[in-house]
Amino acid sequence: MSLANSLRVRGIGGTVELALRRAFNFDHVPEHLLSRMVDLRRYDRKHHVNTAGLVELDKLDIDSPSKAHGTRYGGASPWQFRDLLERLPIDASKYTFIDIGSGKGAALFQASDFPFREIIGVEFSPALHDDAVRNLKTFRSDTQKCYKITPVCADATQYVLPEAPWVLFFNCPFDATIWKPVAESLARTPRGTETSYLIHMSPGFLPGVREFVENLYFLKLSSRVEHADIFEFRAGPGPQ
Ligand SMILES: C[S@@+](CC[C@H](N)C(=O)[O-])C[C@H]1O[C@@H](n2cnc3c(N)ncnc32)[C@H](O)[C@@H]1O
Repeated sequence: MSLANSLRVRGIGGTVELALRRAFNFDHVPEHLLSRMVDLRRYDRKHHVNTAGLVELDKLDIDSPSKAHGTRYGGASPWQFRDLLERLPIDASKYTFIDIGSGKGAALFQASDFPFREIIGVEFSPALHDDAVRNLKTFRSDTQKCYKITPVCADATQYVLPEAPWVLFFNCPFDATIWKPVAESLARTPRGTETSYLIHMSPGFLPGVREFVENLYFLKLSSRVEHADIFEFRAGPGPQ
């Protein structure tokens, strides 16, 4: 990212902090993780939550056969997330935002800057879900526009979507083995008359997943940006 862009999204303080961490990066943390770490830590301090850091799934008790196909927890970068949501041509107040694989709730809190009808997070690790619930109690924001935030502890393969329209957010939560039943369930769910959207963040993180999602017959690619693919749902089954 250019200096001008970094100043725009991080301000002077964030840009200086990131420059110092880059200069003293003794652990050789990859660049994309370093900037996300700095951005989320700053977000957490400002909003009284703890969403930064990475948590490997093998450190967690998760009673689900899906565990072997899931990815570790790592929260969405706040400025990338905002950039994606601002691209959607929607009246957010009609939409439910659902983060599939919500972890400690980073994307849920960031989404609350938009006036969604409701925000739901679906996370299969009880420990990460508990972190999200704790974070929800301490979360403070001057820019919050949605106050109905519901973390749900469930496996994505079992979760039944609420009434459409939705903005579904997938920040590379699992591989194609889990995408298959999740996609089958999405295909069967009535989609109503409004266009719903699916944001696929970091789609290239796991091999084969981007191709699997972009070939789903009920999705239409709406835009592709550096860090995400955004799809519209085609008209679906059930009452339209
Ligand atoms: C990369 S993190 C994304 C966190 C969050 N969506 C965000 O962007 O801030 C992926 C999350 O998906 C969760 N996950 C993986 N497989 C899952 C499944 N089958 N059902 C529900 N959650 C799952 C992991 O536990 C992890 O918290």
